[in-house]
Amino acid sequence: MTSPLLELEHVTKRFGRVVVADDLSLTVGPGDTVGIVGPNGAGKTSLFGLISGDLAPGAGEIRFGGRTVTRLDAAARCRLGIGRTYQVPRPFADMTVFENLLVAAQQGGGLRRRASYEAAVEALDRAGMSGQANLPAERLGLLQRKRLELARALATRPTLLLLDEVAGGLTDPEVAQLVEIIHGINAEGIAVIWIEHVVRALTGVVTRLTCLAGGTFVGDGDPASVLADPAVREVFLGTEVTAALAGSSLEAPTPSERSEP
Ligand SMILES: Nc1ncnc2c1ncn2[C@@H]1O[C@H](COP(=O)(O)OP(=O)(O)O)[C@@H](O)[C@H]1O
Ligand SMILES: [Mg+2]
Repeated sequence: MTSPLLELEHVTKRFGRVVVADDLSLTVGPGDTVGIVGPNGAGKTSLFGLISGDLAPGAGEIRFGGRTVTRLDAAARCRLGIGRTYQVPRPFADMTVFENLLVAAQQGGGLRRRASYEAAVEALDRAGMSGQANLPAERLGLLQRKRLELARALATRPTLLLLDEVAGGLTDPEVAQLVEIIHGINAEGIAVIWIEHVVRALTGVVTRLTCLAGGTFVGDGDPASVLADPAVREVFLGTEVTAALAGSSLEAPTPSERSEP
C-alpha cells in the first residue's frame, strides 16, 4: 500500500459556538480524487483552510507527505505541495494573467527564476489560458477568472490541489471544459479534493465522494452510493443542489419527499 498523502486526525475547529470541524478524520492518497458536497455553511471552505494552513485547528493533527504540518503556516504548506483555489477568486487585478502566475510560482511555490517561469507557462497551458497571458486579470470574464484561479494554484506545483467551487456560475459547455482540464491535471498524478455544488461536474472527475454537514462527514465512498445514501440525501438534497442534480442521472427528491420529517 502506498503511504497516504494527506491525513487529518481528529481535527476540530470552532468559530465561537459554530463547530465547522467536529473531530474530523480523513485520509487521501497520492493521485486520489475526492469530491466534497454539503449544504451552505457546512464548513467546507473552512476544511480547506485547515488543510492549507489558512486556519489553525483547535485540536487534532494534520499530516502531509508523512510530515506533521498542523502548526505550519499556509506559505510553508504551499511550498510542500498543497495548492488551493479560493471560492472568491483572488487575482492581482492590475497584473496580467502571466504576472499573476509568476507571483504564484515564486511566492507560493518558492520557485526561482527559470523554474518559476516554466511553472507559470505550464500552468497557463494546462488551464487553457495561453491566449490570455498578457491580459490584465481585471479584464477577464467569469470562466477565465475561474481558470486563472486554477492556474494560480497549479503554478505553485502542487501534489495536492484543493478546488473550492470552481464550477459555480458556468454554462454546461464551460463546466465540461473545466472537467476535462481537471481530469488532465489528475492524470499527471496530482491528487484533487474538489468542493462543488455542481454535482454533475464533480462526478465527471472524482472516484470518491463525501458529504460534510455540521462539521462531520456523512457518507464516504463511490459517488453513486454516497448520493443515494438516505443520510446524505437528508442533509444535502432538498437544498439548492437539487437543481444541479436535475441534469445528472440521479433523481432529485420530489417536493413531497422533501417536506417529510
Ligand atoms: N473566519 C471566520 N470567522 C467566523 N466564522 C466563520 C469564519 N469562516 C467561516 N465561518 C462560519 O463557519 C461556518 C462554515 O463556513 P464555511 O466553511 O465557509 O462553510 P461552507 O464553505 O460549507 O459554506 C459558517 O457559519 C461561517 O459563517
Ligand atoms: Mg464555501
